[in-house]
Amino acid sequence: MKKNYENKVKKYYANMAKTMKAASGLYKIRLELINKYITSESIVFDAGCGNGIYTVPMSNKAEKIIAVDFSQEMLSEFAKSIEKQNLKNITLVQGNLLNLSFKNNYFDMVTCFSTCYYIEAFDSVIKELNRVLKKGGLLILDCGISHSLNALYSKKRFKVPQFFVSNKKLKHTLNVCGFDIVEERTFEIIPRVGINILKKGLDLIICNKMVDELISSMPILKYFSFRRFVVCKKR
Ligand SMILES: C[S@@+](CC[C@H](N)C(=O)[O-])C[C@H]1O[C@@H](n2cnc3c(N)ncnc32)[C@H](O)[C@@H]1O
Repeated sequence: MKKNYENKVKKYYANMAKTMKAASGLYKIRLELINKYITSESIVFDAGCGNGIYTVPMSNKAEKIIAVDFSQEMLSEFAKSIEKQNLKNITLVQGNLLNLSFKNNYFDMVTCFSTCYYIEAFDSVIKELNRVLKKGGLLILDCGISHSLNALYSKKRFKVPQFFVSNKKLKHTLNVCGFDIVEERTFEIIPRVGINILKKGLDLIICNKMVDELISSMPILKYFSFRRFVVCKKR
């Protein structure tokens, strides 16, 4: 069963390797979070790096980056941009996030964007990311929350296995795996689908915040918003 679902995810991403690109204001939010916490001495692990749309901008800010994905097609595309831009501090590794070959307590920072929801064993992946981080090191990740409109929409729309978590499970798992939450941000009470004007409206900035975040973080609504960005520190 496990291999079967992983093979479906791999196949899905093999077909997207050439076309996957940065979309929407959420790209800027991820970069904002990276820039806030990365230092020139950081040894960073980009977990589920895809074709490198977040890893590449990190490369001139960090000491060294190791980027892992299980899709050979994604890594081949990524390798082309590394060569084209002559980036020297990124190492690509093909591997599964559930079974990493890195030693304990090695990285200063782990980023894991739009990837956790393709892994059934959420607690196992968080445990593994904790293992490779140094004490005090930071994990920046985003997750899909199960009781949200977008979770329903995504399951119907995308023909790939997806595993969303409840707010309770997210907090509980991070805690039992040895993380303290440092910062949490909430987006996508409304799925980012359909007419462009809606997407542009959600990306508008008012009082230094995206409209999407302003609405999605409101009391009560925030429990039904889809995307949670979490920055957490290894205890
Ligand atoms: C939506 S893409 C995100 C890529 C990149 N982080 C980004 O935000 O652009 C999800 C990536 O996770 C990878 N992936 C999913 N499950 C994985 C696993 N168990 N081990 C390694 N990579 C995995 C897929 O191959 C795919 O490239």
